[in-house]
Amino acid sequence: MNELMQRQGHYLKAMGIDLWLERAPSVQNTSDWQKLEQTVASCQRCALHCTRKQTVFERGNREAKLMLIGEAPGAEEDKQGKPFVGRAGQLLDRIIAGVGLKPEEVYIANVLKCRPPNNRDPTAPEMAECGGYLEQQVAMVAPRLILALGRIAAHYLLGVSTPLSRLRGRPYIFAETQIPLWVSYHPAYLLRNPADKAKAYEDWLRVVQELLK
Ligand code: URA
Repeated sequence: MNELMQRQGHYLKAMGIDLWLERAPSVQNTSDWQKLEQTVASCQRCALHCTRKQTVFERGNREAKLMLIGEAPGAEEDKQGKPFVGRAGQLLDRIIAGVGLKPEEVYIANVLKCRPPNNRDPTAPEMAECGGYLEQQVAMVAPRLILALGRIAAHYLLGVSTPLSRLRGRPYIFAETQIPLWVSYHPAYLLRNPADKAKAYEDWLRVVQELLK
């Protein structure tokens, strides 16, 4: 609050009028982030800690309005310690730029923080062990909107097994939060199925429209 607002607040209070201020959209606490990141870095809750090079925690802006959630790190992410930095990540960055978003307008994380060997799908027990970390990330970022990337993340986050093509195109609510969650294709899928890129752009443009509301 600046000096003028403080003075105005003082007069209004003297007149018996309560001053309401808009709350910051998310309350960022550096030490909470440090604690969570350290807990993840030393996590041994599942066997993936035996084969990982390092944990993969996040990329992007912790104050972003849009949170992107993928499934698990691959080989390049395991090497660099950041999500979506391999070929799929490069496509993701092109999509983000293509819909007019800046890199600092998104926060990116995965359901799993460790790479499953040979890039196999995450198992349900691994996601159950790791999912609490993602929940804490969602709570601390408090994004306006979540976009689940691909079938595995969408099924885990929504607790359903509906085909991804039927989950697209409408918002859901993420768990106990009030945060709208949308679903789109995983960029690795789009690398294998470029014909579906147009549908992915439709999804992303809808998400951007929602953010502008
Ligand atoms: N695929 C994912 O789901 N996440 C990554 O970080 C990389 C590839």
